[in-house]
Amino acid sequence: MKIALTFNLKKKDSTKPADYFSEFDSEETVDAIRGALYKKGHSVDLVEAHQQNLFSYFRDNRVDMVFNIAEGTCGRFRESEIPAILDYLEVPYTGSDTFSLALALNKALTKKILQAENIPTPRFQLFTKGNEELNPDLIFPLIVKPNCEGSAKGINAANVVRDESALFRKAREIIKVYRQEALAEEFIEGKELTVGILENGKTTILPILEIDFSSCEGSGEYFYSWRMKEYQGDEQQRLTPTFHCPARLDKDTERRVKEVALKTHHAVGCLDISRTDIRLSRDNIPYVLEINPLPGLDPKESNLPLMAYAAGMKYEDLIEAILISAAKRKKAGLN
Ligand SMILES: Nc1ncnc2c1ncn2[C@@H]1O[C@H](COP(=O)(O)OP(=O)(O)O)[C@@H](O)[C@H]1O
Ligand SMILES: [Mg+2]
Repeated sequence: MKIALTFNLKKKDSTKPADYFSEFDSEETVDAIRGALYKKGHSVDLVEAHQQNLFSYFRDNRVDMVFNIAEGTCGRFRESEIPAILDYLEVPYTGSDTFSLALALNKALTKKILQAENIPTPRFQLFTKGNEELNPDLIFPLIVKPNCEGSAKGINAANVVRDESALFRKAREIIKVYRQEALAEEFIEGKELTVGILENGKTTILPILEIDFSSCEGSGEYFYSWRMKEYQGDEQQRLTPTFHCPARLDKDTERRVKEVALKTHHAVGCLDISRTDIRLSRDNIPYVLEINPLPGLDPKESNLPLMAYAAGMKYEDLIEAILISAAKRKKAGLN
């Protein structure tokens, strides 16, 4: 197949905030995907999403499929930027469509859908000003996050708040810095789990990945915060989580965790691939935090490739599975 790989590249730019490029991909990831596609016999054009005239580019350079990992740049619809252009030009692409990408980027809206589907998700409240009346049902500690970000942007240990004044302070800070609503939700003590789903002809739920932060004592972080993700593996800062894949769970818990991830994938309408972040409470309830329709695909660092390796897949098999799923949908005339 003739494939275009669309991406936003991480850059070094000291005039931007420290987390400005966190969602974007490294050259290593782009190279790895290109190499995997090449190994499987495809030709690959690299298309940086910042490139101007993307519309005319795709109108004039017809490809069989776009392999899309671009996170986009502008506003609440940003992950849908490339898919919107491709939909208009009727060019097929891998992964979720404009609708699911925009929905999943909005954590509160996603949580409302999860609630309607009886999928457990932490109780929450959305703040647009940071001085609204507090929902009395919420039990502290709460964690406050930007409503429409990823890669734990704006989330560190200090985002866990224990009283109303700290909550409002953090909510106002997030509204100001990230120019969006702040989501406060109950902090779930317990195991951090993440579940990958691949639709390679059938629906495969990959082995659950458990991320254990007990090895990070002294780092100042104790969950999958921005610092933890950004500097993952940094021994000096002790940001060295331990990965267990499959997760250390009994059979019944494993089944329930996989079930909520699959229900979430369907409820949000994800296609080809997704990764659902879950916290397993001390009383064994798998609370869904969010779903990622564009999970990181760094071959060494990202969570989803680790799950694929545990399932016995090579990196190129993972990339090909995403491609085949999208190609099958195209052939069947499905979106
Ligand atoms: N309600 C919560 N309870 C416990 N930990 C949480 C909660 N919400 C977020 N976290 C922690 O913060 C991390 C990032 O939050 P998440 O909602 O997944 O946002 P992002 O889209 O930035 O990944 C999670 O992986 C988890 O470690
Ligand atoms: Mg997450």
